[in-house]
Parts: sequence; structure tokens; C-alpha cells
Amino acid sequence: MSDNSSSMQDDPAFEDWGGEMGERWLTYLDQFEGMIAPAGEAALAKASAQPGERVLDVGCGGGASTLALAGAVGPDGHVTGLDISPQLIEHATKRGRNAGLENLSWMVADAETEELEQGAYDLVFSRFGIMFFHDSEAAFANICKANKGGRLCCVVWGPPPENPWVLKMGEIVASVVEQPEPDPTAPGPFRFANPETFRAILEGAGYREVAIEPWHGPQLVGGKGATPSHAARFAMEAFNLEESVAEAGDEAKQKVLHDLQALFAEYHGDDGVSMPAMTWLVSAQA
Ligand SMILES: C[S@@+](CC[C@H](N)C(=O)[O-])C[C@H]1O[C@@H](n2cnc3c(N)ncnc32)[C@H](O)[C@@H]1O
Repeated sequence: MSDNSSSMQDDPAFEDWGGEMGERWLTYLDQFEGMIAPAGEAALAKASAQPGERVLDVGCGGGASTLALAGAVGPDGHVTGLDISPQLIEHATKRGRNAGLENLSWMVADAETEELEQGAYDLVFSRFGIMFFHDSEAAFANICKANKGGRLCCVVWGPPPENPWVLKMGEIVASVVEQPEPDPTAPGPFRFANPETFRAILEGAGYREVAIEPWHGPQLVGGKGATPSHAARFAMEAFNLEESVAEAGDEAKQKVLHDLQALFAEYHGDDGVSMPAMTWLVSAQA
């Protein structure tokens, strides 16, 4: 990929979900969840969880999709939210309890290596929680075993050129600090931007009837109702851009903040800062 998305693509923080990145996701949970809610709703509709089903939500984060799935499978079904971040699972556990849902359980685990029970899940779901594995082949072989006889449904980001919210942020960062060429095989949000890479990994893991369709929709940067200046602050802190530009000094940092605000002002409307986004909705049989 020759674009300027590398400020996020190659950020080593994305390899530390069990630590710093998980904490950052929790700090900005409302904003992050607000941003990805439209794509998540499309994925939940596609997954069409049925009453009585046993579901695994991989990389469930703060648990918003897990709770929605628990509602869909009802009291005869069961949903397990699995995440590598203990802080996020702690938060999700409280959320499930506050919602009074009893058909839920939570696991702090690495989906890549955790021994999952064979054929335990009718549906494996994920909203942007499966792009961060060190060894995707091994991770999906592990997941597919637990999903045997069932189906997979997940949503992952499409390519940065179709996601101006990240492409343009990357260009702004690259205007003050040189950005390395992104490595498309490194763990990160755009790991499966090339759908054929993802298809090959899923098929190699034992999935069949892999179907991949594009979804286009809004991305509310900084969550619903954010102003351009809130969205710019959010981008600096939540996406770790502050650290990416730190070496360029204070003046450069102020320029980035100013340029982000100007960018977000172009997309500001009644809902907040609404930028176009593109994801892949992926389904398969195990
Ligand atoms: C972009 S967030 C999405 C969170 C959640 N699915 C949502 O939509 O709100 C990615 C999530 O994947 C989790 N994650 C990353 N690597 C993981 C792994 N190897 N095993 C389990 N969870 C992982 C992170 O901790 C994080 O919660």
C-alpha cells in the first residue's frame, strides 16, 4: 500500500491491546463505539444471531456488540465476550451486570492461542477485533475449530484510500514527520484491507463459502455530536498522533492540530464530524 495511513498502520501500540492500547480504548470508549456503531450494526444484521444460539464475540472490547448479541440469542442462548485486555473485560462485565443480562460470560484471553472448546460456538462474531493477531493463520485455525459446524461473521476495515478519515489524518501527520511505508502484513487496523488476503487466511484455516461484501457508511470522528475541535483533540490523543509527531516539536504539533480541525470542519454537520468509511463484511461457514 503506498498511502499515508502508516501513522496508524505501523503504530506498535496496536500490538499492546493487553496494556496501553486497551487502556486508551477504554478511556475513549464512548467516542470509539460511537464511531464504529454504524458498521457494527451492519455486521450484527448480517450475522443475524438467532434465539438459542451459542456465540463468541472475539476482541469484544467494552462489550457493546456482545450485549446486543445477548439480546438477540435470548435466555436460551449464550454469548461469550473474549478480549485480551483485562481492563476492557472488567468494564464489559459491569456493563452486562448493569443491563441485567444472565446469558453472558466473559474471558480475558488471547484468541490466537487460547484453547477453545471444539465446536462450542454456532456463531463467531467480531467487530474490528481480529486484525491484531501476530499469526493470523494460527489464530483463525484456532477460532475455526471452536466454530466447527457454525458460521463466522465479522467486519474489518477496507483500504485507507477508501477511508479518508484515516488517509487524510495520515497525510497531515506526514506533512510534519516522515512516515515509513506501511507493512500490510503487520498487525493493525488495515491488516485485512485486501479482502483476498483475508479470504486466503480464512480458507487456509478451514472456513468455506467465504463471502466478502463492501459496506459504505459514515464514520463519526470523535463520536456523535463532536465539534471539529473535539474531533481533532480526540484524534491526537485516542489515535496516538500526539506521540507520532512529538519528535517534530511543539510548532509541528500545533500545525497538526490546526490542520485536523480544518479537515474536520469540512465534514462537520448535524451529527458531528461525519466522514465516509468503507469496511468489509465477511461471512463464512466453519
Ligand atoms: C478496535 S477494538 C474493537 C473492540 C470491540 N470489538 C468493539 O467493536 O467495540 C479491538 C479489540 O480487539 C482486542 N484484541 C486485540 N488482539 C486480541 C487478541 N489476540 N485476542 C483477543 N482480543 C484481542 C483488543 O483488546 C480490542 O478490544
